[in-house]
Parts: sequence; C-alpha cells; structure tokens
Amino acid sequence: MSLFDVYPLFDITPVKAKDVYVYDKNNTEYLDLYGGHAVISIGHSHPEYVKSISEQVSKLGFYSNSIQNPLQVELANTLTEMSTCKDYNLFLCNSGAEANENALKLASFKTGKKKVIAFKNSFHGRTSAAVAATDNQKIIAPINAQQEVEFIELGDIEALKKSLQNADVCAVIVECIQGVGGLDESTTEFYKRLRILCSSYNALLIADEVQSGFGRTGDFFAFQKHGITPDIISIAKGMGNGFPIGGILINNLIEASYGMLGTTFGGNHLACTAVLAVLKTIKDEDLLKNSKELENYFREKISKIDSIKKIKGRGLMLGLEFEFETSELRKKLIFKHKIFTGGSINKNLLRILPPLNIKKKHIDMLYNALKIELS
Ligand SMILES: Cc1ncc(COP(=O)(O)O)c(C=O)c1O
Repeated sequence: MSLFDVYPLFDITPVKAKDVYVYDKNNTEYLDLYGGHAVISIGHSHPEYVKSISEQVSKLGFYSNSIQNPLQVELANTLTEMSTCKDYNLFLCNSGAEANENALKLASFKTGKKKVIAFKNSFHGRTSAAVAATDNQKIIAPINAQQEVEFIELGDIEALKKSLQNADVCAVIVECIQGVGGLDESTTEFYKRLRILCSSYNALLIADEVQSGFGRTGDFFAFQKHGITPDIISIAKGMGNGFPIGGILINNLIEASYGMLGTTFGGNHLACTAVLAVLKTIKDEDLLKNSKELENYFREKISKIDSIKKIKGRGLMLGLEFEFETSELRKKLIFKHKIFTGGSINKNLLRILPPLNIKKKHIDMLYNALKIELS
C-alpha cells in the first residue's frame, strides 16, 4: 500500500532530535526554527518530558473517559495557575481542529444559533465546522460548505457590527495573531470592541490559541495582551510538545451536561502527563520570559538585513516578510544551511516558530545564513 499523497515532502528523514536540533539518518544536524508547525514548545526530547512520559506509560498509558482521571484535574488546576485564566472549565480532545470543532459546537448549543463569523486568512483546522471557518476554498469540500460562515477583514469593526446585527450568529472565532495566514494582528481597540459586540448580540467569542498559546507569543495566551476575556479558548500544538492533544477552556457560564461533548482518546493519561511536563518546564525554565527576550534580540539582529521588508508577529511566533517569494530561500536554508523555517499563505513570508528555549546563538545562525543568501 502507498501513502495517500497529500503532503509535498522535503527529502529529509529525521531519526532523532534533541533540544533545538533535529538529526537525519546520516547524523546531519538541522537547526529547528519551525518546531514542526509550532508544536515543539520546550525543545525536542526534553529530559523532564521523556522521564514523565516514560514513567507514565510503564504504569498506565490509557483508559477511557468513563473512570476518574486525576491527571486531568491536575492539568486543569496547573493550567489555571499558569495561564491566570480563572472561571473556565477544561475539555480535552486530540488536535487543534477538534478543539475548534467542539468550541463551535458548544457556541451553537449555548445560543441555539448556527451562523459563524470568521476572519479573512484564518486557519482553524480541517474538520467540518473548523474547516468551514477557514478562509481557504481549496480545502473546503461540498459537505463542509453547508455551514454558514461569513468572513470579515481582521480589524473591520463596521463589517462585524453589520453582520452581528441580524442576531443569528452563534460565534465569532479569531486568531488574535494569525498563524498560517501570515502573522497579522489587529489593534487592542478592535479586540475590545469585538468582545463587547459579541456580548451585545449573544454570540460567543472563541479565541483560537492553537498556535499562539502556551507561551509562544511571550504571554501565556496571545489575547491576553489585549485585555479581553474570550468565552472559549482553544488549545493544542505547543501544549503537548508533539504528543497529540488539544482542548478548550470553557467559561463557567456555559453549563455542561452529560454527553454534550465526548471523545475516546482525549485527555488520556499519557497525553495529560505530556502537558504537565510541558507546563512544569515552561515554569521552571521561565520560557515566557525567554520568548520575549529572544524576540527583542531577533528584531535587533535580523533587522540589520536590508532586504527584509517587515518583521511580523510577537514573542517566538515571528514572520520575515520580503519583496519576493520565499520558497527558494526556504529551500536554501534547509539544504545548504541546515535550518528549518516555515511558509505561510503569504508567499513572501518566512515563518519562524522555534522551540521556546532557543538561545541567541541560534538566531545568529539564521542571521549568518540569511546574510550569505541575501547579500
Ligand atoms: C490557529 C490554528 N488553529 C487550528 C489548527 C488546526 O490544528 P490541527 O492541525 O492540530 O488540527 C491550526 C494548525 O495549524 C492552527 O494554526
């Protein structure tokens, strides 16, 4: 049987990884400034992570959500403490798309409505409602197109108001900093007005923190910079540092009932252990502070390269915008300089999403490579 050929692959076969480096079968070392799509938060094969998961799997790897699982409770408590998001309950699932799917479903249950507002260039996943709220016609199949979604320009408060006025919207879903879309972010004023409008028209505000959450922007969640309180917060990616897990933080005002949501694998013992190790490491190694400090260093150093039009993003969720398409540059970085970076919908943008524990010397390595290729 062949593999269903949906991924354009770089011809590199990683066999091990450590910290911010990935090694292929010939032991060639690659600097990972992409973290496998913003997934590697605490670094590859972190000792705390490896130890916790190994110990847990030798005791109990999985049991279904029909028994008590104290690890889920510990995770909810630690997440409250570290994110400072009070007044939420936690539901665990397995991926970012599933987190958003559950978030949209809850919004519809709670309000009794079904229309969704999303933003141009958004990416929320590939499942039913999540993909319908994703601004990419190529990945929306006819079966998904039955969802009612309106796409609005990020920052266009008048369009938002107009769309909400019909009172048929169950949710507005937003990435406060867009990931796949290319690192655009609106103003605090926009996000604050968005919050107020959602409340006025009985629509739930869903903050998609799948990519930007867990310290990637230097705040625990990206929306926190704008001082708003979403009704639902979706999480995944950096949460498990590679272990598949997602979840939603659900405001207390939304009441649970048995059977309303559910999953077989979500929140299993191994997944919770992985997240607890991630949270412990973020705290022990002060990785939020590192994200902020390294952003400053990155901007200072990389802005010395003249052909960079703009440095976008926050913390270690960054984008380098050029006047030209970056796919050739990205290939040169990988094959010649052994540095992984990422692309985005904006073809002129190179995405930089490293593990949150990178050091200045790693940014210097990118600088040196870019200097060679661009001067
Ligand atoms: C903001 C955002 N939401 C949702 C998703 C979907 O996550 P997953 O691929 O885990 O389903 C992604 C993935 O890139 C994302 O960036």
